[in-house]
Amino acid sequence: MTTKPASETLDAVKSFALRFSRLLDERITFDGQTPQTLADSIRYSLLAPGKRLRPFLVYQCGALCGADDDVCFAPAAAIEMIHAFSLIHDDLPAMDDDDLRRGRPTNHKVYGEAVAILAGDALVTLAFETLATKTLDRAHIAPLVADLARATGGEGMIGGQTLDIEGQRSETDERSALTLESVRRIHSTKTGSLFECACKMGGIVAGADAETLERLGAFGLNLGLAFQIADDLLDVTATSDDLGKKSGKDAESGKQTYPASVGIDRSRGLAQEAVAGAIEAIRGVSGDTAGLEAMAEFAIRRDR
Ligand code: IPE
Ligand code: IPE
Ligand code: MG
Ligand code: MG
Ligand code: MG
Repeated sequence: MTTKPASETLDAVKSFALRFSRLLDERITFDGQTPQTLADSIRYSLLAPGKRLRPFLVYQCGALCGADDDVCFAPAAAIEMIHAFSLIHDDLPAMDDDDLRRGRPTNHKVYGEAVAILAGDALVTLAFETLATKTLDRAHIAPLVADLARATGGEGMIGGQTLDIEGQRSETDERSALTLESVRRIHSTKTGSLFECACKMGGIVAGADAETLERLGAFGLNLGLAFQIADDLLDVTATSDDLGKKSGKDAESGKQTYPASVGIDRSRGLAQEAVAGAIEAIRGVSGDTAGLEAMAEFAIRRDR
């Protein structure tokens, strides 16, 4: 089977991002009950121009398993809310201390640290409210909530962020460097977990069987690992203008990244291996998987 050309995937991702951002803008609004600053801060980050890859995967995996677009919106919006929360908190001074995100000042630079923390908190509750209240098959809601909670929490993204922060090293730090296995664990949890969950949620709303969900999850996890290795590589090789966030920060902060651990060339090889793992997993699902295979390749060929 041949994968689709990269330009086709890039066009599909870009046009999806525009459509999905418009839906978020129309549907995620606040009435007078939510303090205005909090509502503004939430919308500032949620509607900023992200790539929307996790929502894209919900829709693509959903479509592969036969789900209509209308049942994909709630899980796609929920996972993008969790992602936006993770970015707002990741940028805080207590964490990565970044000033630029999606080409704009970070949330705490605009609204202050307290409101930024609260906006992140509110995005978590909004994500689960969205899953519980939008029109979905009632039998799908509990598995969606359980999967998203697991992917977000201590076993997933938040756990990975904890390991990421604990793993930071100064040049004179005498503790031995983390092993490749530890870096892989950080990346699989802080980033892989949400990609895994996005793909599984597409399967859940389509009513996919357990074996298919497992394959979708393995696809997403491998893709997410490849994606985070690529993020580490872009931090070394790309400019802040291209990325819309400050590059060169990981080395400065002593982050445990793939390039720091095994160098640029081996990191590229390991990213390609993770993509191959993703493609192998998705090929076991019946239907046309070419678009998702191309998406896995895109995760490491992108320039931002
Ligand atoms: C950034 O994710 C955080 C990582 C997991 C590397 P994205 O690169 O998907 O960020 P946006 O959503 O496009 O801004
Ligand atoms: C972030 O990893 C992963 C998250 C869960 C937010 P990074 O700290 O490398 O993400 P960027 O580079 O700031 O987007
Ligand atoms: Mg970080
Ligand atoms: Mg960061
Ligand atoms: Mg990074």
